[in-house]
Amino acid sequence: MNDIRNIVILTGAGISAESGLRTFRAEDGLWEDHPVEEVATPQGFRRDPDLVQRFYDERRSGILAAQPNPAHDALARLDRAWDGELLIVTQNIDDLHERAGAARVLHMHGEGLSAWCTVCDARHSWTGTLRDNPPCPSCGQAALRPDIVWFGEMPYRMDEIFAALSRADLFVSIGTSGAVYPAAGFVQGAKEAGAATLELNLERSQGSHWFDETRLGPASMLVPQWVEDLLTAAK
Ligand code: NAD
Ligand code: APR
Repeated sequence: MNDIRNIVILTGAGISAESGLRTFRAEDGLWEDHPVEEVATPQGFRRDPDLVQRFYDERRSGILAAQPNPAHDALARLDRAWDGELLIVTQNIDDLHERAGAARVLHMHGEGLSAWCTVCDARHSWTGTLRDNPPCPSCGQAALRPDIVWFGEMPYRMDEIFAALSRADLFVSIGTSGAVYPAAGFVQGAKEAGAATLELNLERSQGSHWFDETRLGPASMLVPQWVEDLLTAAK
């Protein structure tokens, strides 16, 4: 493992499941009682902004009530200890990686605790509600929406992600079903660039066959063990 220098880690809803945040595609997942086209598309927002604001107001209060779990803690430990390049690309809109102490985190699907003004383009940290149509602190217009990438919109910072993947020696996917592109395709990109690939998930993801190795189990067990092994081998 001494030849590993550059690491890209992709995380999904599964890493926050043990912090009490619901995943999307499980039987009791969020998309079961909230049709995705209603709450996670620009068309759904135009049709019923109140419904969408309420959905993300709920997500926001859930995020604020949640705490990082041992998987977030372990990645933060790795981030602090790792001298080489490291990037945690998360599809999650929670801030549990950051609250655990990780710094090198990129939110490709946006952030639940951020509001984005559709008039002046400003972004604001947001812990309150949006359903009451508060004015934008920058321009005063009541035009704030959740700073979330919806289906049909472009995920954030793709150039940086692909650049990191092209340099990666190791790509690790944690707690994601591999159902949503472009994140689901990162493993192929990393493999083509010559990276070793590892999946840590409760069950096999849709792209499981792309990974050199799959370890199945809860993230709170698998991630600390993997981090410890990696840091020991790198010494
Ligand atoms: P897609 O998976 O092909 O993604 C389209 C783009 O939207 C991607 O670039 C993706 O990264 C981005 N995106 C926007 N908002 C997102 C978000 N909140 N989370 C993740 N990625 C987001 O989706 P599509 O082309 O819109 O849909 C393909 C098919 O999959 C459709 O039939 C759709 O209804 C279905 N779908 C099902 C689910 C589900 O959970 N059951 C979720 C999404 C899409
Ligand atoms: N430990 C590890 N993995 C887990 C755990 C756990 N404790 N609990 C669940 N998982 C796994 C599930 O087995 C599943 O494969 O996490 C995965 C969660 O998959 P999804 O619910 O599909 O979430 P995700 O892959 O993050 O979804 C991608 O879809 O609609 C969008 O915006 C949404 O960013 C999200 C994207």
